Amino acid sequence: MTSRKTYYITTPIYYVNGRPHIGSALTTLCCDFLKRFRMMRGEDTWFLTGTDENATKNQEAAQEAGVDPLDFVTRLADDFRQAWDGMAYAYDDFIRTTEPRHVRTVQEVFRRLRDTGDLYRGTYEGWYCVSDETFFRETDVRDDHLCPNEECRKPLRRVQEENWFFRLAAYGDRLLEHIEANPEFLQPASRRNEVIGFIKQGLRDASVTRSNNGWGIPVPDEPDKVIYVWFDALINYLSATGWPDDPETYARLWPASVHMMAKEIFVRFHATLWPAMIIALGLPLPQTVYAHGWWVGSGGKKEGKRTGGLPHPLELVRDIESRSGASHELAVDALRYLLLREMVFHGDSEFSEENFLRRYNADLANDLGNLCNRTVSMVGRYCDGVGPAAQPDPEIGAVVAECVREYETVVDEFRFHAALEAAWKIVSRVNRYIVDQAPWNLAKADRRDELDVTLTTCIEAIRVLSILVAPAMPHASAALRQQLGLAEGQPQWADASRWGASSGLRVATPRPLYPRIQDLTAEPLPTPPEKERAMEPQPTDTVAAAPTAKPTITYDDFAKIDLRIADIIEAEPVPNADKLLKLTVQVGDETRTILAGIAEMYEPAELKSKQIVIVANLAPRKLRGIESQGMLLAADVDGQAVILQPETEVPAGAPVR
Ligand code: MSP
Repeated sequence: MTSRKTYYITTPIYYVNGRPHIGSALTTLCCDFLKRFRMMRGEDTWFLTGTDENATKNQEAAQEAGVDPLDFVTRLADDFRQAWDGMAYAYDDFIRTTEPRHVRTVQEVFRRLRDTGDLYRGTYEGWYCVSDETFFRETDVRDDHLCPNEECRKPLRRVQEENWFFRLAAYGDRLLEHIEANPEFLQPASRRNEVIGFIKQGLRDASVTRSNNGWGIPVPDEPDKVIYVWFDALINYLSATGWPDDPETYARLWPASVHMMAKEIFVRFHATLWPAMIIALGLPLPQTVYAHGWWVGSGGKKEGKRTGGLPHPLELVRDIESRSGASHELAVDALRYLLLREMVFHGDSEFSEENFLRRYNADLANDLGNLCNRTVSMVGRYCDGVGPAAQPDPEIGAVVAECVREYETVVDEFRFHAALEAAWKIVSRVNRYIVDQAPWNLAKADRRDELDVTLTTCIEAIRVLSILVAPAMPHASAALRQQLGLAEGQPQWADASRWGASSGLRVATPRPLYPRIQDLTAEPLPTPPEKERAMEPQPTDTVAAAPTAKPTITYDDFAKIDLRIADIIEAEPVPNADKLLKLTVQVGDETRTILAGIAEMYEPAELKSKQIVIVANLAPRKLRGIESQGMLLAADVDGQAVILQPETEVPAGAPVR
């Protein structure tokens, strides 16, 4: 029976002695994204993750804790499983290197390579780092005999052992040939070049066994030796296909479509040793081995630059959830979005929770959340809650089509942040379109046809966005679709290219998906020096006369006005005042009430969580019995107010100059 080749995606198997953090969560998320994206395109997929448990240090740690090593690693492996379940990673299989199915495959690989002569006996004498599970040459080791890996620096052990060696050196040329003939094999290109350089320096045969201290996979027929953890761990990708006992599953899965990882295990292990082992076994090579950069923590040197200070993903989710009031599922999606969007895939990215929260407010609360909220509110208000049956704007349709194409291209290049950027181009274009079209004016002037086109365009854009965000944000995708009144079920990729596919949808009651985070507890952003200079008073004769009806004022006159950024916390209608809205705003530590004549242009729901500019030192004045403590700034467009907002998220209370 022949079956369709499955898109088979793998993460590294994580060492159980570390706990899950946003670094390992990122790699696993990339795989989840790929799986969901490919599934949406109608492909069969298989997503493997798991844990690497045969390291000597696990046995040592278990002994120290007085626990049975297998129980010890089982508990640690469960922590990973729970973290990935909590992040809604839809893995199909979770492999543990202590499982019999893996032991069986590893021993079979060993037997076959011993039979073909790819493994030979030799004496290994040199230095070994237990923490890194790595052998080092004499020339790599300094006089201090500490691990040469700057992040480790633990004492090395001198070892002299009778071992089995793998003839890695013999595979250099074949590897180079394959790499050069298959540009998609090692990605990104910058890292491929590193591998080419590494192989050209000359590969050395690798010692693949160690003496047996009671933990690890025994060498077949030689119980005094165990198989070196890296040799064992890499084989997990093959064990999970059922090789050699289950040829049918193997044929469906192998070769892997993508091995995903970060850069530190790419060059030596996944781009050389592993492919050489596969060639030696006579099996086909994986299609792509991809390495992204690191999330770099700000924390302790002790833990290392890479992971020190990196939080557990679910801790961050809880933080986002409690600060914003978003539902748990949507907070999970928020973190999924932020991890992918804030990461520069080809380089390293420094983790900053403050940046994450700012982007949450900007991209999720303001841009995406508002687009959905104001659209659904307007359909409720102007169309009795039923989307009109008009043709959506073709110009916006062309922008959307271009973004959909771009999204697909960059996902195939594993540039996930760029895919989300492409989706958010639609978000900002359509938010701008709403301001340009001013549907509130169209409604007022009873320009029904134009209003219908505008609202249909917004609905269509959100429908397409619900497809584009689905791989990163499956719950948010479902929430967007629920808000639009689309039928439940998995979105299909092909529908992203059907501009105008929906009409007459009954929208739901508007619900803010991503409430703004009010308290960022962040340091204010430093003002760049050039900006400060630009704000200094200018001699009056260099200022061009502005086309205004008002007399010129001096800088000192202007400086009397205390302009501030404020966060809108609440907005509500004022009884018996059609034009007025009562805004509750946060300015630094202070909460104020401001009345604004914007009721005809803005729905209270869409204002909530916006940032505005206010005149903070205007004398208070009473309107309709309510005291207004300041004034909101808005552009006057033919008598209609369009509020002014900072271009990016800034701390509430920041002065405006
Ligand atoms: N057990 C080996 C892998 C064997 S695969 C056959 C191992 N484990 S690990 O727990 O150290 O995981 C390393 C992988 O976790 C990285 O390659 C990457 O996928 C992920 N990350 C760990 N720290 C990370 C960051 N700080 N940033 C990004 N990814 C990170 O090596």
